Amino acid sequence: MRNKQIGIAVVGSGRIGTLRAHMAARHPSVRFLAVSDKDPARASALAESVAANFSSGDNEEVVSRPEVDAVFVSTPEHDHAGPILQALRLGKPVFVEKPIALTLEDADRIVAAAEAAGVDLRIGYSRRHDRRWMLAKEQIVRGRLGRILGATARVYNTRAQMLQILERSPEATPILDVLTYYVDMACWFLEGIRPVEVVARGNSLIFKEMGYSAQDVTWAIVTFEDGAVVNLGVCYALPAKYPSHGQSARFEVLGTDGVILLDQDNKDSILFTDAGIPHAYVPGHTANMVFMQTNSSGDWAMGDFWGPIANETRSWLDHLATGRPCPHTTAREGRRTLAVTLAIEESARTSRAVRLEG
Ligand SMILES: NC(=O)c1ccc[n+]([C@@H]2O[C@H](COP(=O)([O-])OP(=O)(O)OC[C@H]3O[C@@H](n4cnc5c(N)ncnc54)[C@H](O)[C@@H]3O)[C@@H](O)[C@H]2O)c1
Repeated sequence: MRNKQIGIAVVGSGRIGTLRAHMAARHPSVRFLAVSDKDPARASALAESVAANFSSGDNEEVVSRPEVDAVFVSTPEHDHAGPILQALRLGKPVFVEKPIALTLEDADRIVAAAEAAGVDLRIGYSRRHDRRWMLAKEQIVRGRLGRILGATARVYNTRAQMLQILERSPEATPILDVLTYYVDMACWFLEGIRPVEVVARGNSLIFKEMGYSAQDVTWAIVTFEDGAVVNLGVCYALPAKYPSHGQSARFEVLGTDGVILLDQDNKDSILFTDAGIPHAYVPGHTANMVFMQTNSSGDWAMGDFWGPIANETRSWLDHLATGRPCPHTTAREGRRTLAVTLAIEESARTSRAVRLEG
């Protein structure tokens, strides 16, 4: 198997860009690393902490470096399209954080640009890279569930974390930004079968009072073309000090020959301490008790980063260096997931069923 040396750019030096840069800096095939941020001080601080070769406040300067072969786009949700299109124009493969974009117009421009340039674009649906969900996919591929009849999933988190997301991107609602993982997962498990209709209802009180349009609770039913029915729900409005420091989820898949029940509330992993536990995503937030492993990105331990984002980043870098296939969400899958989440938003807003186009 070939093992190319590669140059990597990370655009956006915030929470997730920082993790991507750390993982890239540790990867044995990465021989050049450049980082950017619209705030050049942030880029240079990250460059220093990972010993990157170059940093800038100008994305184009970083993406177009001749040593750079591929690009992570880790900017906020509403700012994905610009750096993606810059990289694609230069023929450089892109890994963008979820969701691909916040509008279908942006998603279509991105898919068209990737296809016209013949350049691979993947999306960071890190839930796929948690061992539990990866194993579930494996069982489905091996036929152990038979035909999938339906599924149910719900994800909870605190309003403290949702407010961090809303402050960054007010249009990035719990549906577009979080339920999107579970839409991606359902479509991955039902690979090759098209979602055709969405019915959703929601309730707004807490975030509305704070001036946001995001719903506190949303429940949706997505019907697939073969009749499979998938019930998806999200509540990111739990009290600020609820012990989840990320996603507390359940996912259940029901097949003709088998069933998979994933309990990812992590109530079996409790840390309690009078010393206080900092929150990886919410600055200044400390708790006495947390469900460990609820940080959906993963966790630092013993000087290294472990968990879904570590697996996902390493696997994409391996793919670039060796050509080995990787299971990351494709541009077209990301576009379809966005269409489903936008339909959930619309149905919850209008109280009408929404048909999805082919
Ligand atoms: N996979 C996961 O587990 C996971 C978890 C959280 C967030 N995310 C995704 O990661 C992305 C970033 O989230 P975050 O939490 O890192 O946000 P963040 O606010 O911590 O970081 C974003 C950074 O991008 C910079 N930035 C903004 N616009 C820019 C531009 N046009 N060019 C260059 N830099 C720009 C900001 O200054 C900031 O430093 C989002 O798409 C989010 O949905 C993924």
